Amino acid sequence: MNTDLDAFWMPFTANRQFKKAPRLLTRSSGMHYWTDDGRQILDGAAGLWCVNAGHARPKIVQAIQRQAAELDYAPPFQMAHPQAFALADAVARIAPAGLNRVFFTNSGSESVETALKMALAYHRVRGEGQRTRLIGRERGYHGVNFGGISVGGMVANRKMFGTMLGGVDHLRHTHDPARNAFSVGQPAHGAELADDLERLVALHDASTIAAVIVEPVAGSTGVLVPPQGYLQRLREICDRHGILLIFDEVITGFGRTGQPFAAQTFGVTPDLITCAKGLTNGAVPMGAVIAKQSVHDTFMTGPENLIEFFHGYTYSAHPLACAAGLATLETYADEGLLTRAGELAGYFAEALHALKGLPNVIDVRNCGLVGGVELAPIAGEPTRRAFNVFLDCYEHGALVRTTGDIVALSPPLIIERAQIDQLVDTLGQAIRRAA
Ligand SMILES: Cc1ncc(COP(=O)(O)O)c(C=O)c1O
Repeated sequence: MNTDLDAFWMPFTANRQFKKAPRLLTRSSGMHYWTDDGRQILDGAAGLWCVNAGHARPKIVQAIQRQAAELDYAPPFQMAHPQAFALADAVARIAPAGLNRVFFTNSGSESVETALKMALAYHRVRGEGQRTRLIGRERGYHGVNFGGISVGGMVANRKMFGTMLGGVDHLRHTHDPARNAFSVGQPAHGAELADDLERLVALHDASTIAAVIVEPVAGSTGVLVPPQGYLQRLREICDRHGILLIFDEVITGFGRTGQPFAAQTFGVTPDLITCAKGLTNGAVPMGAVIAKQSVHDTFMTGPENLIEFFHGYTYSAHPLACAAGLATLETYADEGLLTRAGELAGYFAEALHALKGLPNVIDVRNCGLVGGVELAPIAGEPTRRAFNVFLDCYEHGALVRTTGDIVALSPPLIIERAQIDQLVDTLGQAIRRAA
């Protein structure tokens, strides 16, 4: 083993396997990475679902450089700097109507914790402090902190970590390959799965439930596109029972599904949106919770000299992140990137669904510029086939992402049609070789 690699305990990585054959990226530009041995890699994953405008965009790079020299840090508690307000305003302008108050964090996980705490505190401030129950969904991914893994539904992320938060329950997931395999876009079947929330209301009583959190399109559990009508029905049930609806848009935010937020793509408005990743194009860590004004205003009632929400981070609204965020949103606007996934979705879907019929391909799913290809596992060795495909793609010049035996694609929104062809072609050949 190369001892230079020993000290870094890598996140969500098979450390020993990696360190025997490291995959090191040393440079990036536009649609590409370059490896330490000089190979060019087409980025089919936008890094980790975050580099929506492509890599090393000059406007973003320069904004970060300028900001570091001008104002490196400003405390966000009882103090502020102008870019924080400018970025909050810019985010509010592209968010769904009514969601116009922005609380900054440093990651998707922190956004989730923030939104859950906001939901609990909101009910308490309104005099319904008994609403303490949080509802997530099986196969949900909401980051790695205790609130997020509690409402999340990925067993490997939960089973090692004790009992987590109490008072959490889960909706059933919406993955139904028996009825929906190879759906192009939203699957036809499964809106009724939202009625699971009525079942939980009947079990716990609505007066105990603070919020429901779901990803509009589940990314990290393998690209689960919501069935037609499902999110609408979830919204209706939440409204009926006074339950806040939180959309975790850490992946779907900032243009991934064809509109700035998936809430707009699907025409369903939540009460809170969690986001991160594409907010700064991945260049500086940052996340945010975007709240309905009515949620925010509920907090603004006590004496004016008192803190309304006892929550925040040393690096909330960090100047470098705000500079990166402002330059990122400008880049998205200049280049029409927040709607580009919608323009390319048809081409992308056609290319991806052509993989149907290749060995072991048991489902293909898509939404905007997100794609999922589910493979039949190797008997007795779950995850290995998809991982082999990932390695093969990397050796042949394309970065994809796998989760379980599902290969996920989420390229930067600047991708050209020829690059979609190259990406899907590389994936198809890898799938053949992994048979
Ligand atoms: C839906 C969702 N929520 C939360 C997170 C966690 O974000 P982070 O890794 O920035 O903490 C992710 C990360 O992929 C995500 O996809």
